[in-house]
Amino acid sequence: YHVYVPSDTTAKALGADRLARLMAIMAAEQGIELNIKRNGTRAMYWLEPLVEVETAQGRFGFGPVKETDLASLFAAKFWLGEVDHPLALGLVEDIDYLKKQQRLTFSRVGVIDPVCLEDYRSHYGFKGLENALNLSPQALVDQIKASGLRGRGGAAFPTGIKWQTVLDAPTEQKYIVCNADEGDSGTFADRLVMECDPFMLIEGMIIAGLAVGATQGYIYLRSEYPLAHLTLEKAIAIAYENNLLGPNILGCPQCFHLEVRLGAGAYICGEETSLLESLEGKRGLVRAKPPLPAIVGLFGKPTVVNNVLSLAAVPFILDKGAKAYADCGMGRSRGTLPFQLAGNVKRGGLVELAFGPTLRELMFDFGGGTRSGRPLRAVQVGGPLGAYLPDSQWDTQLDYEAFAKANAVLGHGGVVLFDDTVDMGEQARFSMAFCAVESCGKCTPCRIGSTRGVEVIDRIRAGENIEGNLALLSDLCETMIDGSLCAMGGMTPFPVQSAIKYFHEDFVKHSAPLS
Ligand code: NAI
Ligand code: SF4
Repeated sequence: YHVYVPSDTTAKALGADRLARLMAIMAAEQGIELNIKRNGTRAMYWLEPLVEVETAQGRFGFGPVKETDLASLFAAKFWLGEVDHPLALGLVEDIDYLKKQQRLTFSRVGVIDPVCLEDYRSHYGFKGLENALNLSPQALVDQIKASGLRGRGGAAFPTGIKWQTVLDAPTEQKYIVCNADEGDSGTFADRLVMECDPFMLIEGMIIAGLAVGATQGYIYLRSEYPLAHLTLEKAIAIAYENNLLGPNILGCPQCFHLEVRLGAGAYICGEETSLLESLEGKRGLVRAKPPLPAIVGLFGKPTVVNNVLSLAAVPFILDKGAKAYADCGMGRSRGTLPFQLAGNVKRGGLVELAFGPTLRELMFDFGGGTRSGRPLRAVQVGGPLGAYLPDSQWDTQLDYEAFAKANAVLGHGGVVLFDDTVDMGEQARFSMAFCAVESCGKCTPCRIGSTRGVEVIDRIRAGENIEGNLALLSDLCETMIDGSLCAMGGMTPFPVQSAIKYFHEDFVKHSAPLS
C-alpha cells in the first residue's frame, strides 16, 4: 500500500515527520506493508498534515491528521482508501479547493516525491527541455513571448522581451539569476516550488540559459528557507549525475551550470540590482537603472533576473506550447498566477488560477472568509508594499491592469486578510516602520522619509493636530513616490495612502489628545 505524508516546511511544523515515523512503527507492529512516501504538499494548509493513500480510483485523503488519530485510522484500515473515518476527505483531486484551480505550474506539487527524478519524468518532467534542445535560441524566446508570460516577482514585465534583450547582447558571457529571495508578507509560492518540485525550477533555468546563450545560473535563495536549500542542493546534484546539468545536457553539445547562493536576510536583496550586488559579495545596495541588468548585470555581464515562478512556468510552456499557456487568462494578463492566501483566513493555502476571477471569489470561495469568523475588513494584496483594499474594491478582477486601475498591485500574489479588529492606523505605521528597517539607505526620501513617516503617524494617533499632520503625511508620501530610487521607498506610501483613504476613521478616532 502506498501512503503519502507531506514534507514541506509547513507540514513539518505541524508534525508530519513524527507522524510518518509513528505510522511506520505502527504498520510494522501490525504487520501491514505500508510504503510511506514523502510528497511535497497540496498547500491546503488547514488540512495539514494531509495523509494520502494511493488506490486504483486515485488518491484518498485524510486530514488534518494528528498523532492521536493514528490508532483510529489504523483501526479503520485507512490504507484501503475509501473507508469510514471522521478525517476521511474522499478523493483529494475532488476537494473543491483543488478541483476549481488551474494548476499549470503547480500540477506536480504535492503529487510527487520532490527529489525523485523518475517521479518528475513520469509527470511530464523534462519534456519542455527535450523540446528546447531542438529549437534555436530565437525560437525559444519567441515561444516565451507568444505565451504572454510576465514577470511573476511583481513587476509583470514581459519575460520574452527581457530574454530578447539578453539574447541580443553581443557578449559571450551571460548569466541566468533566479530571484528566490521571497520576502513579501503572506507569500510562499516560491518556497513551494523549491521544496516540492525543484526539478521544475532547474528545467526552467536550463531552458532560459539555452534561450539567451548563458551557461551559468545562480539561484539567490533567502537564508530563511533551509529546507528549500537542502532540497535544491539534492536536486542539483541529481541533475548533474544524470547529465541534465553540466557540459553535455542530455548528450547534446549545450552546457549549463547551476549553483545556489544564500542571502543573509535583507528584504531589499529581493530587488534585482541589490540582489546582484549581494551575489557579487557586496552589501545589498540598490544600483541605479539604467543600465538594466539585462545589459549590465552580474559581474557587469548581460543577465536574466527572473523570479522563481516566472522560471517555473517555462517548462509547461515549452512542453504544452505557448498557446496552451496564453489561452488562460484575460486581457494582457495571460496564463495563471499562484495566489497565496494568508493572514486571518479560514482556508489558507495556494490557489493557482487563470487571471480573471474577482478578489472576492478568491477570498470567499477558496479562502472561506476569516478564520476568526468575524467580518472581513481589509485585505492587502501584493506584499508589504501593496495597497489595503476595503469591501468596495473586492470585486476587482485578478488582473494586472484591473489592479493598477484600482491603485493596487497583484505583486507576487500574496493575499493577506484582516478582520474587523484590525487597527488600520497601526498597519499604516507598520508600513513606514518596515521601510525604515529594510531601506538600503541609498536615497533620502526612503531612508529619512520612512522614519519621519512613523513619527508623523504616531502624532496623528496621539490626536495631535490630526488634519495638519495628515496633510504632512500626504506630502511625505508624494515625495517618497516621486523621489525614491526603487520600489521600496517608491511603493511604501501605497499601503499608507490606501489606509488613510479607505479607513480614515482609524486615524481620527483619537481626535481628543490622549492624556
Ligand atoms: P521594474 O518595473 O523596474 O522592472 C521590471 C523588470 O523588467 C526588471 O527585471 C527590469 O530589469 C526589467 N526590464 C524593464 N525594462 C526592460 C527592457 N527594456 N528590457 C529588458 N528588461 C527590462 O520593476 P522592479 O523595480 O524590478 O520591481 C518592482 C516590483 O517588484 C514591484 O512591482 C513589486 O510588486 C515587486 N516586489 C516584489 C517583491 C517580492 O518579494 N517578490 C518584493 C518587493 C517588490
Ligand atoms: Fe534604497 Fe530605499 Fe532608495 Fe530603494 S528607495 S534605493 S531601498 S534607500
